[in-house]
Amino acid sequence: MATVKPVNAASLSEAVSILKEGDLVAFPTETVYGLGANACDDAAVAKIFAAKQRPDFNPLISHFAAAEDALAVGRADARAKLLAHHFWPGPLTMILRRADDCPIADLTCAGLDTVAVRVPAHPVARDLIAAAECPLAAPSANLSGTISPTAPVHVAQSLGDNVSLILAGGACEVGLESTVVDLSAGEDSLPVLLRPGAITADQMSDVLGCVVESDFGVKTKEDKPRSPGQALRHYAPNIPIRLRAVDVEEGEALLGFGSEKFMGVRGGGRVADMPETAHKNLSAEGDLNEAAANLFAMLRALDRPENKKIAVMDIPEVGLGIAINERLRRAAQG
Ligand code: TXA
Ligand code: MG
Repeated sequence: MATVKPVNAASLSEAVSILKEGDLVAFPTETVYGLGANACDDAAVAKIFAAKQRPDFNPLISHFAAAEDALAVGRADARAKLLAHHFWPGPLTMILRRADDCPIADLTCAGLDTVAVRVPAHPVARDLIAAAECPLAAPSANLSGTISPTAPVHVAQSLGDNVSLILAGGACEVGLESTVVDLSAGEDSLPVLLRPGAITADQMSDVLGCVVESDFGVKTKEDKPRSPGQALRHYAPNIPIRLRAVDVEEGEALLGFGSEKFMGVRGGGRVADMPETAHKNLSAEGDLNEAAANLFAMLRALDRPENKKIAVMDIPEVGLGIAINERLRRAAQG
């Protein structure tokens, strides 16, 4: 079972060490318990998906101790600043376009050019983030498809050994995930409520002086949009993707996984001689955690007009491989 510790100077500093090493800590927020990792570290964020046994890479919320830090990673317009002023710290998540120098990891944002940010009100969450000196990516601290945890015991029951440390800060006051509002379309469009929560559309309308549209419908327990119009936009490269490739065709880029010893190049030549701009390997060791951490950055790197297609080697359909393949299949369709 996971170690559950009350919050004090010693457990906080232990949590910070764990986070700095790229591992996971469960911590209380006013909404639900979060499963946190350094939001700027793809490899650490990959562990969140592994621990939750999540079958796909949904984008995660980055949590900050201060509003100015949260607003700095996105393109925050006047509306974002107003909402931040009125509702942060608190149970509100804003979707913003990524800033040019946004340090948040690609995997945290699921490869999208938007970023979800929130400043939680719970003092333990804020102390932890401030002490860790990095934003924390944190979905609810439970296995995928199960109910969100509002007490430390729920986290321990759901995640067991998949989390090193649970900081116990009592029961969550709100008990419902944060409101998610999408401001990424800019001030020529209306804000869109993607997930209802403790901060209501009417409250936001009052502050903003404009209508807040709603775009949520049938949801699963994981708050994943289900009805067709609700499907999250997903990152897809501009060039086609070919899955389960066993060789590389003329003009194709290669996204490898594991050993490339038996990969052929049609028309001759060797994979090892392909240029960096047309060849990446998700994990030469065949490590799915490493592959998940590299996935979006490598797809982007190979998404160049001079490459005709991206041939992707077979990735086993186990553990994080299921999420990686789900994303690749979506990208191949897009
Ligand atoms: O209350 C909460 O928000 C909790 C605590 C831990 O802070 N966290 C939480 O995270 O509920 P999660 O991962 O379960 O939910 C994140 C929600 C999902 O509905 C996801 O689709 C949406 O935010 N989201 C995140 N980034 C997005 C983006 N770039 N565009 C659209 N939706 C996004
Ligand atoms: Mg959740």
